[in-house]
Amino acid sequence: MNKHADAAHWDPSPNNLEPFWMGFTPNRAFKKKPRLIARAKDMHYYDMTGRPVLDATAGLWCSNAGHCRDRIVEAIQKQAAELDFAPTFQFGHPKVFELSARLANLAPGDLNYAFFCNSGSEAADTALKIALAYHRAKGEASRTRLIGRERGYHGVNFGGISVGGMVANRKFFGAMIAGVDHLSHTYNRAEQAYSRGEPKWGGHLADELERLVALHDASTIAAVIVEPMAGSTAVLAPPVGYLKKLRQICDKYGILLIFDEVITGFGRLGHAFAAERFGVVPDMITFAKGITSGAVPMGGVMVRQHIYDAFMNGPDHVIELFHGYTYSGHPIAAAAGVATLETYKEEGLFERARKLEDKWADAAMSLKGKPHVVDIRTIGLVAGIDLEPIQGAPGKRAYDAMEKGFHDHGIMLRITGDTIALSPPLIIKEEQIGEIFEDKLPKVLAAI
Ligand SMILES: Cc1ncc(COP(=O)(O)O)c(C=O)c1O
Repeated sequence: MNKHADAAHWDPSPNNLEPFWMGFTPNRAFKKKPRLIARAKDMHYYDMTGRPVLDATAGLWCSNAGHCRDRIVEAIQKQAAELDFAPTFQFGHPKVFELSARLANLAPGDLNYAFFCNSGSEAADTALKIALAYHRAKGEASRTRLIGRERGYHGVNFGGISVGGMVANRKFFGAMIAGVDHLSHTYNRAEQAYSRGEPKWGGHLADELERLVALHDASTIAAVIVEPMAGSTAVLAPPVGYLKKLRQICDKYGILLIFDEVITGFGRLGHAFAAERFGVVPDMITFAKGITSGAVPMGGVMVRQHIYDAFMNGPDHVIELFHGYTYSGHPIAAAAGVATLETYKEEGLFERARKLEDKWADAAMSLKGKPHVVDIRTIGLVAGIDLEPIQGAPGKRAYDAMEKGFHDHGIMLRITGDTIALSPPLIIKEEQIGEIFEDKLPKVLAAI
């Protein structure tokens, strides 16, 4: 086949799915029976035929304000016409400063500074690099060890997979970065099954950090990174007291605490950041996804005053941190971010998530006893539903649920292993919560 001649006849309603190598997707299965999405509005996607598909996952934990919201769309259009790109190395533009100030107001404590990048993965690696550079700037260059957690997800870059704890995301990629250790994950079905909010069992697992300090010595440890609620591993809320204890131990030994809030930020747990919900101020918060409601790629790190200050020395004309991305604080992303934060505020979407939390949890828990369901966990507007795996085919049961959900029942489900993870846009109506748990999911579960 003449590849170039073929490209000239490219048809926009794709009749050749082959050339796109899709990430985190079984390509051959998808291309045999694709799930193509043509457009979106508010709580719904629409396939190529115009059939609505209820979005029970905010796309990919992103679209917290719902889809194609007018204010966000208009802000993007206006910005694209006014200033398409300006560098934020040595130059700047107004929108990125405006967004930073709004984020500083929103973040708890003295998390007063925003460093921008383009994704959650870049945010994780940025935070880890800032941690290393911070200790060096303070004269403690021996603090190079990074501590993550089993089952943690911090994106797919080398720093993130090194501190992360999702086995399949790590095992193919060699030695990763050196000098990393992991806390245990916090899930124990026997002790925690069907938990709403923070499980009562498991706070003591934070004491493992003491064990790692005893093993490695605090003088070698730079930072601990955890998701306040682990999302990608199947929705694990932190046990009662766990995050506060991590904070205490980090303070005791001068270790930085990083919360990865790429999923939990922007209202998912009923607050601007989960840090606020759990009453813990970490030294850094990574964010992405909900910052623009998924409309334009953007990520970043909120940083506490003492960290920023540690870098602000030396001659005025010398760069303080040798890090950044060409598209850090891109004008269109920044405009989308400002419009998204305005939408969250004006529509009270964080409070809305808080108010709906009980109704959401009741509805999710009503699936207890349905076919294949072996555990359900809820917190904020999130639910994890564990399904009994098919013997010899791990992941197949949930895959079938996702497929049938899309094709036969008009619902978008997110799956990880044999868990269905739900996280709808925060604009979800009570009837739509009913639609998910009383109508669509029972039908899906009966069909797999
Ligand atoms: C907690 C967490 N950190 C980092 C990431 C990576 O974000 P991205 O896919 O934008 O790189 C994700 C994505 O789901 C996430 O859930």
